[in-house]
Amino acid sequence: MRDAAASLLRLQRGLTGARELAGSGYMEHQALLGAYLLYYWPVSYIEVSLILEELRPLLPRHPWRILDLGCGPGPGAAALLDAGADELDLVDSGAQALELAKALLESRPAGPADGPVRTTYHRQDLAIDAQLPAGPYDVILLAHTLNELWKDESDRHARRLAVLERLAGLLALDGLLVVVEPALLATGRETLALRDDLAAAGYEVAAPCPGSYPCPALAAGPSRTCHLDTAWAPPEPVASLAAAAGLDRQSVKCSWFALRSDAARRRSAADFAATDSPSNQAPTRTQSAPAAASRRGRLAGARVVSEALLNKAGRLRIFLCADGQLTGLSAARGDRRAEELGFFSLRRGDVVTVEGAEPRPGGLGIGPDTALTLDRSAPRPEGTKTAARRRPDAGEDTRAR
Ligand SMILES: C[S@@+](CC[C@H](N)C(=O)[O-])C[C@H]1O[C@@H](n2cnc3c(N)ncnc32)[C@H](O)[C@@H]1O
Repeated sequence: MRDAAASLLRLQRGLTGARELAGSGYMEHQALLGAYLLYYWPVSYIEVSLILEELRPLLPRHPWRILDLGCGPGPGAAALLDAGADELDLVDSGAQALELAKALLESRPAGPADGPVRTTYHRQDLAIDAQLPAGPYDVILLAHTLNELWKDESDRHARRLAVLERLAGLLALDGLLVVVEPALLATGRETLALRDDLAAAGYEVAAPCPGSYPCPALAAGPSRTCHLDTAWAPPEPVASLAAAAGLDRQSVKCSWFALRSDAARRRSAADFAATDSPSNQAPTRTQSAPAAASRRGRLAGARVVSEALLNKAGRLRIFLCADGQLTGLSAARGDRRAEELGFFSLRRGDVVTVEGAEPRPGGLGIGPDTALTLDRSAPRPEGTKTAARRRPDAGEDTRAR
């Protein structure tokens, strides 16, 4: 345990501090690979599982053909197989990572796919015009990979953008390109900048954002980012290793986004235009920000993007992302109406609709006439407490909750 914790600490510092290990071939180093398997493998597995749960309503019909790039020893691939992937192509530049992925994936119990699963392993370097298998793919996953590509090059953003655009060209019509990155400030902001440029180029941001508008967190200043952050009870050996290495592992955090191809967007715009609705208007990638709606105290399909923060006035405030802007929603600690509405139980990643909120200097406040509907709960790792929810009023339709 002591040796493993020392290797973990070296790996953790090398990947998140000065980041000298990122992209350095650490998967070929026995002790660092061991630390990765014991600690980061389960973390990546849970991250991808949570993301897939969120994406489930958007995923195309089976069979799913999947491409996992920078697969490492296969945590994302394992999560995809457990979610029902039917066919999987794994790509990495490291021979040892691929061998381990193969050994791990082939020794696991069968997943829920109906028939036999085909897994194929490709040793390719993504930084030098990799020969990728031909599409189309239903899901293309890059988990903790992009940030390792050209990390010291000043043109890394443009190069990564070109990789993502190339990959988007391998998507099936309703396929999703899923990018998962570390939730560090720098890598998180680089991820959001890629998201914004792809949205501006016409791709639809299918999740987790409420729309394809420019990310308001990125625009809010250099110290701001946006990421998944959910509490979990780490399994062994993650818990003991974290304790031995002095690392905090009480939550799972990552920056991520999922894109749909512009072909899919064009098709849904054409379908929409073909309807007889007198007010039909093809959905556009950038929805205008109806600031007036938030001024009227209404926010629909807003995503909670912060923890609850206690402000100087003794109010608990969360930030909601909707209509291309961040809006604070607050209530005095212990406020009865807010309690009844389940406001204090909201967690980052939940999606809500707020009506009748009161305008306040820092955004909106819960008032006596405020209504709050939980449209969707953020997926949570098994074993963590789910947030308490308000009871629906008698006769109320609860299907959406
Ligand atoms: C941090 S690991 C991520 C592994 C796994 N996807 C996960 O989420 O845990 C980054 C992976 O990207 C791979 N990688 C880094 N640079 C690469 C490149 N130029 N081409 C292909 N794979 C690369 C590394 O070998 C490593 O397996």
